[in-house]
Amino acid sequence: MVERTRVGIVGAGPAGLLLSHLLSLAGIESVVIELRSRDYCEARQRAGVIEQGTADLLRTAGAGERMDREGLVHGGIYLQFEGERHHIDFRDLTGGRTVLVYAQTEIVKDLIAARLAAGGRIEFEVSDTQIKDLDTDRPVMSYTDAAGDRHEVVCDVIAGCDGFHGISRPAIPSSTSVDRIYPYSWLGILAAAPPSTDELIYSRHRTGFSLHSLRSPAISRLYLQVDPATSIDDWPDDRIWDELRVRLGLPGWHLTDGPVLDKGVTEMRSFVSSPMRHGRLFLAGDAAHIVPPTGAKGLNLALGDVALLGRALVAWLRDGRPQLADSYSDDCVARVWRATHFSWWMTTMLHSSPGGDPMDAALQLAQLRYVVTSRAAATTLAENYTGFDLPLPE
Ligand code: FAD
Ligand code: PHB
Repeated sequence: MVERTRVGIVGAGPAGLLLSHLLSLAGIESVVIELRSRDYCEARQRAGVIEQGTADLLRTAGAGERMDREGLVHGGIYLQFEGERHHIDFRDLTGGRTVLVYAQTEIVKDLIAARLAAGGRIEFEVSDTQIKDLDTDRPVMSYTDAAGDRHEVVCDVIAGCDGFHGISRPAIPSSTSVDRIYPYSWLGILAAAPPSTDELIYSRHRTGFSLHSLRSPAISRLYLQVDPATSIDDWPDDRIWDELRVRLGLPGWHLTDGPVLDKGVTEMRSFVSSPMRHGRLFLAGDAAHIVPPTGAKGLNLALGDVALLGRALVAWLRDGRPQLADSYSDDCVARVWRATHFSWWMTTMLHSSPGGDPMDAALQLAQLRYVVTSRAAATTLAENYTGFDLPLPE
């Protein structure tokens, strides 16, 4: 079957779905293809913190109604070390900026619902995806659908939003990358336990980093630094709660536990690949870059790419102005490196290095002490954590 669309989008993660939505608002048709099922995409536990600019983008695009109803506005975080818990007040430090706690799973559900309600086409459970003719003005995206039929979609542009393990980045012949894998992983749990804190706690402890995050007044999300070689089987629920109590503990503070609904281990990596464009293929999100989750940037960066890509493709495909498409890669890569630095800084300041290097430990504590005693240092954290403004759709 040979078909035609304007933009072929590989991947129905947050990046691919939001791009399809932004294009449709400007009257540009797209087809999204996705390896996984809709249920799988809507249940995959990942990020939870939405920057103010990302929330503004979703709102302006008409995809923020449930987010505004159910998301929790947070005006700061706690930094904990050496038995002390300090509040970093984002509102005060940044002139009123905040973040929203609203899970990636919910954003994905909202965007899928919005696309399908508008008659948008998302093909779930496809296989054998390929992209070709990227140097021509008619690139082709092909796949086998869930019923086993083969499709060739002739496009004006292809957007590679297919995450770190996708097919798009390897299709850029000139791409170069910078990569760092950290010597620790995160074990994350989702628990049916009311959060024991009003805002997120990032804790550095001798025995390793931990994070108390949340999803709703009834659901907590918690993470522990673990050895990358660890197996999830080594971590029965009781051991996880015991370790969380040690690393997050303070006199007079109580951690409420509850049934564990989901658990998994995630590797920690910084990775930046460029350029993010080759011919008529544009990359967005994890397809081009990965950050360790300590700064809560991964999802925000992915949606930030799409804010720039949506604007560039509308200017080019609808209005005949190619300049923003031509500068897309450079515009994104500059933002990506800012977030890559911030995520690296938060990660290396808060995790204990395996082997227990005393110099590393003392430098981390000096840095943390500086952040909680200097308004300039705290402002650096607050400004980067709450993020920078994005171009909004017209
Ligand atoms: P993805 O969400 O990866 O979506 C890509 C989609 O493309 C997937 O649905 C995939 O199935 C599909 N796909 C792949 N290959 C193909 C193909 N060949 N054809 C068709 N479809 C394809 N960020 C945070 O800020 N905080 C966190 O706590 C956090 N935790 C994370 C935990 C894990 C396990 C992972 C992997 C990431 C986590 N992140 C976190 C990062 C954040 O979730 C990502 O940055 C975000 O999902 C990026 O969105 P995306 O749309 O670019 O990519
Ligand atoms: C989350 O809620 O999943 C979360 C929050 C903050 C982070 C990472 C993950 O830095």
